Amino acid sequence: MLKKWVIGNWKMHGSLADNKALIDGIRAELPALDARVGMVVCPVFPYIPQLKQITAGSGIGVGAQDISEFAKGAYTGEVAGPMLKDVGVEYVIVGHSERRTFHGEHNEQIARKAKAVIETGLIPVVCIGESLEERQANQTEAVLTAQLDALFAVVGTDNANIILAYEPRWAIGTGVAATPDMIQAVHSFVRAYLTKRSAAVAGLPILYGGSMKGSNAASIVTLPNVDGGLIGSAALNAAEFVAIYKALVASVA
Ligand code: PGA
Repeated sequence: MLKKWVIGNWKMHGSLADNKALIDGIRAELPALDARVGMVVCPVFPYIPQLKQITAGSGIGVGAQDISEFAKGAYTGEVAGPMLKDVGVEYVIVGHSERRTFHGEHNEQIARKAKAVIETGLIPVVCIGESLEERQANQTEAVLTAQLDALFAVVGTDNANIILAYEPRWAIGTGVAATPDMIQAVHSFVRAYLTKRSAAVAGLPILYGGSMKGSNAASIVTLPNVDGGLIGSAALNAAEFVAIYKALVASVA
């Protein structure tokens, strides 16, 4: 699996026309991806087949924003891993803070969703991160430890095909990214945690997410142990998304 990633979380945005314009814009600005840096876009479920079609041959991967922890059954409104795989999904975001906030998802459930992704043969993009209150109470490391402990208790520590995303909840969609110092401190902490857990997970990619955009990308992705970005708002703008991608390519050059 690649180490460096730019992943767009489109959240509940898009339309057939907007999605096409966005992918056309990305492909126009970036005729070829760099073999060392993955690019993935995560639309809402109904547009996944369209995205598979319009990204064909581009190298851009397609991900989903959520998954059921169950493989099938009476779970109205849910979407199972085998169904995602069936339509060509390769990546699944789990544990996004908006799922935690608006849908009551908790660490154990998120870990079970990550396991469902892995058992389907797909790659989970597991979000971790603290709230502003937790940061102010000096709880950041404890919160991240609990989130990671819960994840690895369920998925084990021998799987190297997991992408982590550190997304401080207070930096998501606010326009205010965490400072490079804060990001650096947390990513080093997470790397040390992973290194202690096992050789397989020691090198997992750790992305940063939270108000990353073209203008601040270089200052973030050049930090040690920052392996790319999980991008919300700026992923809806082709020029911004490509600028972030290019900043990451420049950081590995
Ligand atoms: P943002 O969102 O880039 O708009 O802050 C990031 C995310 O929610 O993954």
